Amino acid sequence: MRGDKALILDQVRKYHEDVADTRPFEPGVTEIWPSGATLDAGDRAALVEAALDLRIAAGTSSRTFETRFAKILKRRKAHLTNSGSSANLLALTALTSPTLGDRRLRPGDEVVTVAAGFPTTVNPIIQNGLVPVFVDVELRTYNTTADRVAQAIGPKTRAIMIAHALGNPFEAAEIAELARAHDLYFVEDNCDAVGTTYQGRVTGTFGDLTTVSFYPAHHLTMGEGGCVLTSDLRLARIVESLRDWGRDCWCEPGKNNTCFKRFDYRMGTLPHGYDHKYIFSHVGYNLKATDLQAALGLSQLARLDEFTAARKRNWRRLREGLDGLPHLLLPEPTPGSDPSWFGFVLTVRPDAPFTRAELVTHLEDRKIGTRRLFAGNLTRQPAYTDQPHRVVGDLTNSDLITEHTFWIGVYPALTDEMLDYVIGTIKEFVAARG
Ligand SMILES: Cc1ncc(COP(=O)(O)O)c(C=O)c1O
Repeated sequence: MRGDKALILDQVRKYHEDVADTRPFEPGVTEIWPSGATLDAGDRAALVEAALDLRIAAGTSSRTFETRFAKILKRRKAHLTNSGSSANLLALTALTSPTLGDRRLRPGDEVVTVAAGFPTTVNPIIQNGLVPVFVDVELRTYNTTADRVAQAIGPKTRAIMIAHALGNPFEAAEIAELARAHDLYFVEDNCDAVGTTYQGRVTGTFGDLTTVSFYPAHHLTMGEGGCVLTSDLRLARIVESLRDWGRDCWCEPGKNNTCFKRFDYRMGTLPHGYDHKYIFSHVGYNLKATDLQAALGLSQLARLDEFTAARKRNWRRLREGLDGLPHLLLPEPTPGSDPSWFGFVLTVRPDAPFTRAELVTHLEDRKIGTRRLFAGNLTRQPAYTDQPHRVVGDLTNSDLITEHTFWIGVYPALTDEMLDYVIGTIKEFVAARG
């Protein structure tokens, strides 16, 4: 490293310490966010180094991140994207590729998913002209079950696309088995669950394709960012093409002729030898991330184990601290799992002597941030009421979540002191109202 760059980066690390918020925690004054990035001096230096190098597009850091992350998630290929939502769009759209022949998803085909969750797990289904088939979830785990999914499989079903709820895994092994038995594709939205295991296996390894988000609320952050992973090289190639404008060529940025036949292709009705860089085999997008994002991602990746341990520790502290409290349904890990939690979910029992709104207001007034379980029952959201869809069974629990559920934070920067304040504040409210 040139001397002047080392000097700048030393200054950046020093700057990080200088601007650090060292104010002590003050109950009721200090904000306790439900989620947030945990960034250190190394993260700040990584970002500045990428900027100093003017690595403004995807490049070496992106490739290194993809290789390392694929290894961690035990997949053969990882493709960085500009968000988790883009990753979901690419994963599902890949399954509509004409290159899959008879196995491609076509408009009108059905995809089984859950009603209570994040909208962009479901949106790619609708955006591709496919039909979401909604099933309900369980309370306490906030996931659906293999039984519910099995009941939803009909003659038009071609795929399953489900997210692990707030870090808690659904029955991924059983659902993967269902998918195999019915010849369905299986997309695992792992955006909220990096580091979680189910039956001893990391989530993200059960589906044909899996997705991750690197938005600041998530287990690792790039600011904005996401990733699609797969061990199916044919699907990987389609994802890359769709991400990169739909092009057929797979040269890295700045490289030419990786295939050694750049001017020797005959595709579509193009003239023989048309430059492969400009042959488009998919109706694609540009959903790439930049090296600035990947540089931050690489720096964060080094702390994944530390982050995972902190999320588990924080969740356990809340769970033990609130155990036995009346009027609230406390969360439970899915049997056989070891979740790397995204949040701590609470449901106010419908017969409680207080409402969710009252409890949430009590917490927010005391600077304890809360969030809803995303969209609640999506079929009740204005954007979805007129979209073609099917519901299998009823959505009783999704409705209950819409009306009675919220979550609070477990992210690594929260301290024991903060968590104890959260526990005390909830207990005090319940005792006063109960
Ligand atoms: C389950 C799930 N899937 C997808 C996303 C979308 O990720 P992004 O915000 O990076 O687009 C989120 C966002 O929080 C999510 O929780």
